[in-house]
Amino acid sequence: MVGCSMAIRKNREDLQLALQEERRRVRELESLLVQVTQELEERQRVLDRATEQWLSVKNFNESVLQSLTTGLISVDPRGNIAYMNRGAERILQYSTEEVLGKPLGMVMASKERKDLLSVKRDGKESPPAREIRITRKDGVEIPVGFTVSSHLNEEGREIGKIIHFRDLTEIKEMQEELLRMDRLVSLGEIAMGIAHEIRNPLAGIRIMAQALEEEISHNPTWREYVGRIISEIDRLNELLKSFFSFAKPQQPNLALCHLPRLVDDVLLLLGKDLQSRRIRVEHTHDPDLPEVKVDEGQIKQVLLNLFMNAMQAMEEEGSLRIHSEKVVVGGRRELVLSVADTGKGIAPEHQSRIFDPFFTTKAKGLGLGLSITYRIVQRHRGRIRVQSEPGRGTTFFVHLPCERH
Ligand SMILES: Nc1ncnc2c1ncn2[C@@H]1O[C@H](COP(=O)(O)OP(=O)(O)OP(=O)(O)O)[C@@H](O)[C@H]1O
Ligand SMILES: [Mg+2]
Repeated sequence: MVGCSMAIRKNREDLQLALQEERRRVRELESLLVQVTQELEERQRVLDRATEQWLSVKNFNESVLQSLTTGLISVDPRGNIAYMNRGAERILQYSTEEVLGKPLGMVMASKERKDLLSVKRDGKESPPAREIRITRKDGVEIPVGFTVSSHLNEEGREIGKIIHFRDLTEIKEMQEELLRMDRLVSLGEIAMGIAHEIRNPLAGIRIMAQALEEEISHNPTWREYVGRIISEIDRLNELLKSFFSFAKPQQPNLALCHLPRLVDDVLLLLGKDLQSRRIRVEHTHDPDLPEVKVDEGQIKQVLLNLFMNAMQAMEEEGSLRIHSEKVVVGGRRELVLSVADTGKGIAPEHQSRIFDPFFTTKAKGLGLGLSITYRIVQRHRGRIRVQSEPGRGTTFFVHLPCERH
């Protein structure tokens, strides 16, 4: 009996010991759990911070890319578009949604057979800049300068290409304008000298011819001959006059006026010619078109030159569309007058020369109309540009500054 109770006590003691041991382990585990939880919380905080930093770097990168005025496109290894920034959307006139996953050739379509995506392999030096003419979504061809670089992942493996490009239209226009001004100045100086030399003897010849005309009044045949000499001299004088207006244009005498009225006046002048050539005329303008400060006489001359050229380019039948509207370019308010014809167009190799004095493709042309026009527009602080497609027609755009009055 005694032995039995001793055994029970022993058992109880063992159990208590085991229980104490278990409690100790539970406490240990509890403190371990607290440690692990604290560690996890700490790691979570680090991770949150890293995610936050990563997101802010990503947002920063994205806003840098989006604020670029130049275009940036990335393509996957198959040449399909994976990313396009706002600059690219603006230059190419496509929205990102329209082009994601589409081949690069769709947005940077070019007639030139260049491998757009070829890139220098060594990847060390910066990629060479190249130039190409591409067709925008609206069909207008523009020059762009671009570079292509490899898009690498962390292991340095190529996962696509990055195309960085800029619209060179304005730069090209400025270069051409500078060249043209240079040519205008030197040609103008040479021709001015010659014209002066011609004018004086011409005046002498005219006086002599008139004297002769009186002397031979009894012979009608001779008189007719001399009459023709005089009218040819007058024609030459007219030529010289228009040349002088090119070489030494008057400063514009500015006054506010409504451009469509000047258009109507000039159209009235050409009415008969337009009718006999069966040219349809369409004249439209913005209803709220502001007035512009111009020299009426000079702008009428511009209009006359443009309408005459359009008429001569159409020979027979066709349509002449004249439109004036208000636009804002780079914060500057402008009035844009467009003169579009459906004539034979201008060959691409002639387009940079048409504003040069004496450039003409017409048997009886002087080649002065557009150079005079160019000078007048320039003196009005405006600009003139042309778009032409051989066989389809030509449009001239005259931009005139519009001040707030
Ligand atoms: N609307 C047009 N369509 C086609 N070609 C044009 C047009 N306007 C100008 N051109 C081209 O530009 C050239 C230069 O034009 P510009 O008006 O300066 O001279 P022109 O018309 O030849 O002679 P003129 O001194 O009598 O005006 C023209 O000869 C023609 O080849
Ligand atoms: Mg002309």
